[in-house]
Amino acid sequence: MSKQVYNFGAGPAMLPVPVMEQIRDEFLDFQGLGVSVIEVSHRAKQFEKVLLDAQESFRQLTNLPDNYKILFVHGGARMQFAALPMNLAARSATKKCLYAETGNFAKLANKDAKVYGDIRVITSSADSNYDHIPEITSEMVDQDAAYLHITSNNTLYGSRYNSFPETGAVPLIADQTSEILSRVIDYSKFGCIYAGLQKNLGPAGTAIVVIREDLLGHAVAETPTLLNYEVCAKDNSLTNTANTFAIYVTGLVLQWLQQQGGVAAIEKVNEQKAKTLYDLIDGTDYFRGVIKPECRGTMNVSFNLSSEDLEAKFLKEAGERGLYALKGHRSVGGIRASIYNAMPLAGIEALATFMREFEQNNG
Ligand SMILES: Cc1ncc(COP(=O)(O)O)c(C=O)c1O
Repeated sequence: MSKQVYNFGAGPAMLPVPVMEQIRDEFLDFQGLGVSVIEVSHRAKQFEKVLLDAQESFRQLTNLPDNYKILFVHGGARMQFAALPMNLAARSATKKCLYAETGNFAKLANKDAKVYGDIRVITSSADSNYDHIPEITSEMVDQDAAYLHITSNNTLYGSRYNSFPETGAVPLIADQTSEILSRVIDYSKFGCIYAGLQKNLGPAGTAIVVIREDLLGHAVAETPTLLNYEVCAKDNSLTNTANTFAIYVTGLVLQWLQQQGGVAAIEKVNEQKAKTLYDLIDGTDYFRGVIKPECRGTMNVSFNLSSEDLEAKFLKEAGERGLYALKGHRSVGGIRASIYNAMPLAGIEALATFMREFEQNNG
């Protein structure tokens, strides 16, 4: 029996153990075909069912209205930073696209978009090292704009929108990479949401894009075929060879989530997990939370100790205990516990116990 390891990595991140076991068990023989799922044609009827089932599970889990398409697209989340303005900026004659900058990926999103639209950063928390989510009032949302882009959960820091801005007729677009399916969200309030699969859904390199049908059909002529959401929707994500393995794993993770009782049920568990760690952090001066309490999310818990030396000792000893990948992002430093849907309560308890002991021994 290998030693128990809890993976707190930010992404690629841990997946549910039963899903990994199922993948292992059927890897060499998919559905009795005698070949692996990664060897089956993306046009085979067996794979088509995998794709349709994954889409249907997602639709049920999110209560997604019928007028939204679910796409699986290449290039992970960051590819969408460019694909979004290519597909949507031309909705507005001015090509004005609004962005809220609440972290490193939010900044990259508006930077990558600059080539394709008139990008306006309407608010930013960069001055305070992204320690909060600045409010967006309806006056800030120019009704001329093609869309407003937010990063609903900021992976490096752990902040999230605990309520969403009112945008009038301007479609709200959210990068949900590090929180998709972690809480109940009313998708009808969004024009489009997207997420890289590698945190709450499956392997890296592919993204899920959920887009309202009326937003399709505005891509500029230069848009590469594989970044054109309208083409992708028409071909049901099979314009070229899809990332069949990623879609298959995502389907299994979605089934697992249904077995957990769905998004509302996992949301409760996620709240309990984050609360356990934040209560500990708030109950002592030894650990210092990075994010203002009212802007905290449940997926990434970031905190500091009093010195980098102490943080290095913390990480080393945590690693020896099987608490893996707790190092904060290179641009933020400190400690970050990424506790996505698949992280069990036992992992949180193991971390909390270690934190208490570390404080006692090094306080
Ligand atoms: C919020 C957010 N957006 C975008 C990305 C980039 O994702 P990818 O590496 O799939 O391009 C990440 C990666 O961690 C992320 O956390």
